[in-house]
Amino acid sequence: MSKGKTILDKKKDFERRYLRSLSVQADWERNRVTGLLAVSANGLDVMDVTGKHFLDFGQSIAILGHSHPDIGRAISNYIPKYLVGGTPGWSMMEPRVLLAEELKKNLTGRLRDEGKVAYCSSGAEACDYALGLARAVTKREIVISFSGAYHGFTGATLAVSSLDPGFAAHRSPSRFGNVLAPFPDGSEFGGDTVAIERYCVEKFKELFETAVSADEVAAMIFEPIEVNAGVRIPSLSFWKKIFETCHRHGILTIVDEVFTGLGRTGKFLAADYYRVEPDIVCFGKGVGGTLPLGAIVARREIMDGNLKPNCNSASAGNALSCVAGIESLRVIKRDSLTEKAGETGRYLRDELLTLSKVHNEIERVRGLGLIVGMEIGPKEDHEEAKKRATSLIKLCYENGLLLIQVGIHGNVIRITPPMLVTRGQVDTFVKRMDAALTAA
Ligand SMILES: Cc1ncc(COP(=O)(O)O)c(C=O)c1O
Repeated sequence: MSKGKTILDKKKDFERRYLRSLSVQADWERNRVTGLLAVSANGLDVMDVTGKHFLDFGQSIAILGHSHPDIGRAISNYIPKYLVGGTPGWSMMEPRVLLAEELKKNLTGRLRDEGKVAYCSSGAEACDYALGLARAVTKREIVISFSGAYHGFTGATLAVSSLDPGFAAHRSPSRFGNVLAPFPDGSEFGGDTVAIERYCVEKFKELFETAVSADEVAAMIFEPIEVNAGVRIPSLSFWKKIFETCHRHGILTIVDEVFTGLGRTGKFLAADYYRVEPDIVCFGKGVGGTLPLGAIVARREIMDGNLKPNCNSASAGNALSCVAGIESLRVIKRDSLTEKAGETGRYLRDELLTLSKVHNEIERVRGLGLIVGMEIGPKEDHEEAKKRATSLIKLCYENGLLLIQVGIHGNVIRITPPMLVTRGQVDTFVKRMDAALTAA
């Protein structure tokens, strides 16, 4: 038996064990379009057990790439001190305070000056905290969210998500108390973003005449750009108009920056592009420097006395996750990665736009910083477009690229490389994408 065959056999064996003993992830991966069994990952490079290397352009958590040496070193240094369990008095651990201070420094306005942080362990939990907090503060129950939203898989966050009807099947009680508003997507109304945004703002205002009395609404939760729904990006005036209506009715504003936060769009928050100051900000994914962590930030007057006992968790704010988060923010600042995310993101978009002139199946390219979506056509046939996107992802995989398929119609390739991606790596990416599109 050749050596290569042995490795493949082992890979198959392991996959069988994986599918037999794990549930949720395995169920998702049963439908996967790649056959990756990663054994190591550094930066953007991921190696399969067979020795094949991939460029990871589909990251959501490792915003500084995999196994970042500075983060690894910081964690190792602090293991002797902070591999600890909670005990009275331990909440005051230094990393929790330092990370909270660092997060606030990156925010603007009153969140920077009067902000307080509450930790949890994931992005969904952060949004869940925010919803509980808003309800406690306002003594109101109803929450407005947007079509295409994804805020997580807890009961409360599923209720305000509307990306896939399957997500909330059999959990309908959790949906009570949610009102849905349309999210602007330029592909409707023939791509006329002005018209669709005017329509969405009007529909939002109309909710208070048709669906719900404003004094029953605790909060409005939103992603500044909807990544999972297909990288949908409203124009720069949209959120200001929605905020005006919320302020008029005393409705709290919750921004979900779980995907978009920490600089990957070219600004610390994607909401910063829209010049709005939300009442509550939710962080997840990269906030723990690739370790599990979530956090919310809100002004003292909102946070104090209102969060507990609504939200708490034994593992919230794990000290080593905070150490990794602090180091991650330090590297982002030291290496000017937020500015670079903006610049490299523009370069990446321009290169993809050039590709779209040669390959007709690329319907649209859009993005903010290093969050880019490449929409696959034909736009009049969603099923066919989704099939083409799936087969393109497979071809990309064969060409050494890791990517994710997203979008309400499943026809958008999500291109989200870590923030330290170089122009050279973008060039390699574009070359491989070109090859995949040519083979499609
Ligand atoms: C915008 C957004 N909010 C919330 C979540 C949920 O975060 P987590 O998977 O850490 O629970 C995600 C995860 O993909 C997300 O993209």
